[in-house]
Amino acid sequence: MKVIIVKDKEVGGKKAYDVFVETLKKGSRTFGLATGGTPETTYKQLVNSDLDFTDCTSVNLDEYVGLTPDNPQSYNYYMHKHLFDSKPFKNSYLPDGSAKDENEEIKRYNNILKDNPIDLQLLGIGKNGHIGFNEPGSPIDAKTRKVHLTESTIAANARYFKNKDEVPQYAYSMGIGSIMQAKEILVEAFGAEKAEAVAKMIEGKVSPDVPASILQRHANVTVIVDEQAAKLL
Ligand code: GLP
Repeated sequence: MKVIIVKDKEVGGKKAYDVFVETLKKGSRTFGLATGGTPETTYKQLVNSDLDFTDCTSVNLDEYVGLTPDNPQSYNYYMHKHLFDSKPFKNSYLPDGSAKDENEEIKRYNNILKDNPIDLQLLGIGKNGHIGFNEPGSPIDAKTRKVHLTESTIAANARYFKNKDEVPQYAYSMGIGSIMQAKEILVEAFGAEKAEAVAKMIEGKVSPDVPASILQRHANVTVIVDEQAAKLL
């Protein structure tokens, strides 16, 4: 893993922007995208740049089960607000949280991933080491599936909802197996509350108990962390 330590998340967003520029130059056109607070500075850099994604495809990691795409808490809404409304892609895919038939939706998403192999996958990391919504104990070869969120993830994500009870209990998430298929992976983590997960991801034992640790087995991973998130390295 290539680890880049930066002063703060603003500089982190700039470094991540550089990674996007480089990979676009190499011909990357399919981007796996993430949500949450972490990638916001990266999306800000992309939005304020002259990069053009109209010949690119995006495939997002996950979506809450039960939320319609126009729900302000949905990841679909987030992506439009933070990126797509300013930087449209040729095609942008996310799981549909409001799909009637869950099994069909999972099948549809796995077919999308098969048809659109990811060149660069952007990832954040949960405090418990989750990536996407692959909670500790997730099978390392899994494709997209419906997952039950842990109490710690629900509590961490409650800040985006009016109260904890509104946070959906389930999500569709690309599996660790799908994430590992990406040609290149960029992980970002900012803030002291991520320090333990970051240390375990980079220096810990590779184990499904820390889903991000599986990334040690990928040949092309860049990690951008701020000083706080790097303090246990
Ligand atoms: C969520 C998302 C992840 C994200 C993680 C960290 O659960 N499903 O994709 O990486 O939480 O979120 P944040 O960046 O807000 O700390």
